[in-house]
Amino acid sequence: MATFQDGLPDLTRTNPETGTGPEVYVETYGCQMNVYDSQVIEDLLERNGYRLGENDMAADVILLNTCSVRDLAEHKVISRVGEIRHRRSKAGLPQPLIGICGCMAERLGKDLRKGPRRVDLVVGVDSYDTLPDILRELTDDQIRSVPEAMRTQIGHRKDSHYVAPPALYPTNNSHLVTIHKGCDYKCTYCIVPYTRGPQSEKAPDTILDEIRGIVDAGGREVTLLGQNVTAYRWGEDLDFAGLIEMVAGVNGLERIRFLTGHPKDMHPHLMDTIGRLDKVCPWLHLPVQSGSDRVLRRMKRLYTSGDYLEMVDYARRVIPDVTFSADVIVGFPGETESDFQDTLEVVRRVKYDQLFSFKYSERPGVPAARLEDDVSVDEKKRRLAELIKVQEDVWIGEAAGQIGKVWTVVAEGLARRPAGSWKLRTPNNRKVVLHGASLEIGQQVRVRITESTNTTFVGELLA
Ligand code: SAH
Ligand code: SF4
Ligand code: F3S
Repeated sequence: MATFQDGLPDLTRTNPETGTGPEVYVETYGCQMNVYDSQVIEDLLERNGYRLGENDMAADVILLNTCSVRDLAEHKVISRVGEIRHRRSKAGLPQPLIGICGCMAERLGKDLRKGPRRVDLVVGVDSYDTLPDILRELTDDQIRSVPEAMRTQIGHRKDSHYVAPPALYPTNNSHLVTIHKGCDYKCTYCIVPYTRGPQSEKAPDTILDEIRGIVDAGGREVTLLGQNVTAYRWGEDLDFAGLIEMVAGVNGLERIRFLTGHPKDMHPHLMDTIGRLDKVCPWLHLPVQSGSDRVLRRMKRLYTSGDYLEMVDYARRVIPDVTFSADVIVGFPGETESDFQDTLEVVRRVKYDQLFSFKYSERPGVPAARLEDDVSVDEKKRRLAELIKVQEDVWIGEAAGQIGKVWTVVAEGLARRPAGSWKLRTPNNRKVVLHGASLEIGQQVRVRITESTNTTFVGELLA
């Protein structure tokens, strides 16, 4: 299933340096925070002499940076471990060292070192600085047995705020900047507060230095990242509105996006600030999760559907051209048909540009796991399909109204198909394809919209 991550630019490394040590291949699952962390891991290893590989057949070490948010996400990784082992032995190649990083490492810890799919090392989200040393021990022929305690590095540390270097990024494209880690909300279905730990902020000076480094390397756009960026707080006085104001002051930076906001923290003051600052893109990814107040209460989301709709109306008044996207969960325990219809109603009212919809997946140990899940798997599937259909219908109507409009768009790279086509994006996160154009990444052009296909528009270049 698509996630909002599919809608963001590809952050392929552009300048791999070659070391002489073992070859490491990092494979990333889950959210943008993992994409960022994988860049941190690659940088740490590269600086310690490791070579970065591009595929799972040649690498000496394979690190899977994993996600625990739904059952399926974890299953994928476990079967991937089996697949790697199988492919390597079938090809007569030596087995690589396999490590699990990220959220599964935190959730499952030492259990990942047991059973037929066991891996060689487990390194959680706050322990990446230990990776070079552990790998040195594990890849050194002289050391036959590395102590068990060293192979599993997990647990949360407030001090480990990692910074990915700008040199690893493409230029003139969106650059991820994690501004805080963890989450202090306890939505009852969610594993993230357990895997990522308590919320802890990166210092504003560190964030600003990081962004200045990105601009110096040629970057023009940043995406500020966190599970709850809108809850950012530094000391008594600096909130997220203050932070984006500071970021907007960075010379040479042209666009600021952010992911993910919590509807509860979208105060009028913050929306006013977003609307006032030209550099802040008018796109709000604000997961609603459900349109039923009863379900929202049971999820502990801390707002009602009325609050949410009021917030959307306010944003539309003060943020020119604002668009919305959201996540929705269907089939939460106790969700009735009438609750589900309330969700459909919110979707029809808001008219999202994009919706990421998920079937509820029970996560061990979270508060919702104690609720009886009385919505059958078939019913969850049916609701998911109906939700997707309603969103499609709403969007087809909205998209048709955009034909003929003139938009300013930024070139992000060549489209996969057809040859010679470019992918571009509006500040409010609409995707546009231009056929037969000759552009440069980061170039800003004006286009007239001629066609809409699913969530992408086709445009023609204006002089
Ligand atoms: N911090 C963000 C996103 C959290 S994870 C927020 O507060 O919205 C991304 C999305 O995964 C969530 O928005 C939610 O829609 C979905 N999700 C989280 N836990 C889930 C679960 N147990 N079952 C199904 N979907 C889930
Ligand atoms: Fe999970 Fe809720 Fe935190 Fe988002 S705000 S990460 S859904 S607990
Ligand atoms: Fe998944 Fe962890 Fe992100 S659970 S969504 S990778 S914070």
